[in-house]
Amino acid sequence: MYKINIEYTVKSKSELKEADRQLIEEAEEAMAKAYAPYSNFTVGCAISLEGGKCVTGNNQENAAYPSGLCAERVALFSAKSHETTPIDTIAIVASHTNGKRADAFCCGNCRQVMIEYAYQQAQPIRVLMKREDQKFIVIKDVKELLPFHFNSESLQ
Ligand code: THU
Repeated sequence: MYKINIEYTVKSKSELKEADRQLIEEAEEAMAKAYAPYSNFTVGCAISLEGGKCVTGNNQENAAYPSGLCAERVALFSAKSHETTPIDTIAIVASHTNGKRADAFCCGNCRQVMIEYAYQQAQPIRVLMKREDQKFIVIKDVKELLPFHFNSESLQ
C-alpha cells in the first residue's frame, strides 16, 4: 500500500510576499468581472510571468453550459497566446455572488492544463489558492496537484 503526500503550506495574506499579495488583488479584480449568471459562483485568476507581467482571467459561462470556461483556463490560454515568457505563479480566488466565501480549489481540467505548461517551460509553476477561511494554500509546483498525471511523455 502506498500513500501520496502533497507538499503545500498555508499562509495568511500578510505572511505572503508583496508580489503575491499584488497578484491576489489582481485575481480579486478579475473575479469582479466574471460572467457567472448560471452558477452564481465567480472565480478570478491572475498569472505572473517571469519578469513580473500579469495576465488575468475569470470564469465565463454560457447558456449551453459546457461552452463556458473556468477562470484559470481563460487566464492561461490568454497568457499563452500572447506571451512566451515562463509562468511563475498562478493565484486563484472564488466567491458566491451573494458574498458567501468559497474555497478556490481549481478543477482537474485546469490542473491538467497548468501541468502541460509546467512541462513545456521545464520550470515549476507556483499556485496560490484562496480558502474559504481567507488563508492561502501555497503549492511550489503545480505537479503536486495531480498525482500520476498524463503528459506528453505518456504519448511517447
Ligand atoms: N470554475 C472555475 O472558474 N474554476 C474552477 O477551477 C472551478 C469552477 C467555474 C466554472 C463555473 O463557471 C463555475 O465555477 C461553477 O462551476
